[in-house]
Amino acid sequence: MAKRYVDGIGTLILERINIIDVVGSYIALKKAGKNHKALCPFHSEKTPSFVVSEDKQIYHCFGCGASGNAIGFVMAMDHLDFIDAIEVISDRYGINLDEYQVQHSDPKAQEEKDRILAINKTVANAFYRAFKESPQAVAYMAKRGITADTLRRYGVGYAWDEWDYLLKNLKSKYPPELLEKAGLIIKRDNSQGHYDRFRNRIIFPILDVRGRVIGFGGRVLDDGVPKYLNSPDTPVFNKSFNLYGLNFAKNHLDEARRILLVEGYMDVIALSNQGIHHGVASLGTSLTEGHGRLLERYAREVVLVYDGDEAGIKATSRAIEILGKFNLKLKVLNLPGGMDPDDYLKKNSPQAFLTLTEEARDAVEYLLDHHGEDLNFRVKSELLEYIDRIRPVFQMIADPLAYELYIKKVAADTDFDRVSLEKALKPSGALVKGTPKAKGTGPRDTQPAQMKLYQRVVEIAVHERNHLDYIKDQFDPAEVDHEAFREVMGYLVGHEAVDLHEAIDVLSYEAVAMLEEAVNKEDYIPVSKGLREVQKSYLQMQLGDLKNKYLKIKEEKDDVLLNIDRGSPEFKQLEIEYEGRLQAINSKMMTINKKFR
Ligand code: UTP
Ligand code: MN
Repeated sequence: MAKRYVDGIGTLILERINIIDVVGSYIALKKAGKNHKALCPFHSEKTPSFVVSEDKQIYHCFGCGASGNAIGFVMAMDHLDFIDAIEVISDRYGINLDEYQVQHSDPKAQEEKDRILAINKTVANAFYRAFKESPQAVAYMAKRGITADTLRRYGVGYAWDEWDYLLKNLKSKYPPELLEKAGLIIKRDNSQGHYDRFRNRIIFPILDVRGRVIGFGGRVLDDGVPKYLNSPDTPVFNKSFNLYGLNFAKNHLDEARRILLVEGYMDVIALSNQGIHHGVASLGTSLTEGHGRLLERYAREVVLVYDGDEAGIKATSRAIEILGKFNLKLKVLNLPGGMDPDDYLKKNSPQAFLTLTEEARDAVEYLLDHHGEDLNFRVKSELLEYIDRIRPVFQMIADPLAYELYIKKVAADTDFDRVSLEKALKPSGALVKGTPKAKGTGPRDTQPAQMKLYQRVVEIAVHERNHLDYIKDQFDPAEVDHEAFREVMGYLVGHEAVDLHEAIDVLSYEAVAMLEEAVNKEDYIPVSKGLREVQKSYLQMQLGDLKNKYLKIKEEKDDVLLNIDRGSPEFKQLEIEYEGRLQAINSKMMTINKKFR
């Protein structure tokens, strides 16, 4: 539904803004040497480890590792996706994004969406006001124990008990066709005109992650049917890509980034009513990959808390199947006695509920148990049936360690021996899922091989100070072609111990990054062959440096000479000059090579 922009839109926007302004509009930045620093907004700390580099236009927290550019920062702070963040930034800096828009196949469609969103907002406000004026609506939600605060938080409203309230009141502002497209009124079957979709119902406005009203859900106040009525899919609303409550939940995640996925509107609201704000609900549809993508963006862990009835149990299996494809830790919580969260919270404390979510069973374990519940493993055919049922579950497991663990569990549960079990669980097709791609950060430097050599020297100097003297003696700043390395060496020589917070104030961003990587290296391999090894590391680094220099000059030489007439005296002179420089480097490399022996 988003507008489409040209490729590379991110870079184009980044060129027009300064990360210092962007970050500075969220948190107070303090100039420190070549950098700006602040207390990290992504983890709690007392001394600033959060650095913004104007040179590199990036931020990085040396405490928690958060890093990125200005767009990434807005994404993280406001929990937005890439395009949304770009739109927010452009809004703020007066950048006209139309310039970058890929010509919409139909600009009218976009305009229509904007108008529908405007209608939705107007109508949501009207429903909200109507709620307060409706004694039945107020009484109903009071009966369900929902406080005024919670009602306000979710903008709960009420749709009048009339057939044509919206039409009557909005006709002058919006044409009926548009109200119909917004899903608010329905064309009469066999006579002229329209009638309101939502009548005499409690209204739950559905907001997208940007806080725009995209649709509505409406509940009857009694036992009428259907219990819930939802907006149909409209140009701005698609149930498969939205989750009720996510706009609120995304801002209330703790470090575990755990989201509770519940079945219904009232579950989300009942949870929030008890101070549990990280619940979301799919909108009366089964879960889709669209929901998975959405959850993956915000959550690390998803706990499925579906109703304990048969439908809920079915939905749980299906949800695991869908969400299993995403980079999410999946858990299942079955509330006792088939209760839904709303029921449970009426009888138990919020703390008890939270504890249950923290102790929720791993989804794989849940499925393995669930599939065996109605089977008697002593009956051969049922045992085989079990293996058939759990085969797809095993294909879902990407982590080899987890695979191992669960094979063991099934072997124990079934008395199967492991070897035949593993064979039996192999997919019938050869479709084996590989380990998921690590979502790590990209390389920090353009020459990773050489960077590693510098880094090793820095590590040794940081972790084994006794070797620093040697490195110091060898070190000639003029010889080393890496600014940050030079800075780091200077710092190490001048300081008894590394203090990253202090380094932030005096070194360039890149130098602090090198230091930090060395300090925090968990798998540092100590020097085992004494000084000889330190020498080697240093020489290797020097060699790599010289090799790069050599290549650079060679490239430049070819480049320059290519544009000069071969027969000219100038050509000859330049050729000799370049050759001389290359020779000098060559002989340095030979000297170093000798030292290796
Ligand atoms: P539930 O019946 O479990 O709803 O349906 P609930 O939220 O717990 O509501 P209360 O507590 O009875 O008031 C779960 C979800 O399925 C969709 C709705 O999204 C609902 O929140 N649903 C249910 C419908 O769309 N239509 C229905 O008729 C019933
Ligand atoms: Mn329910």
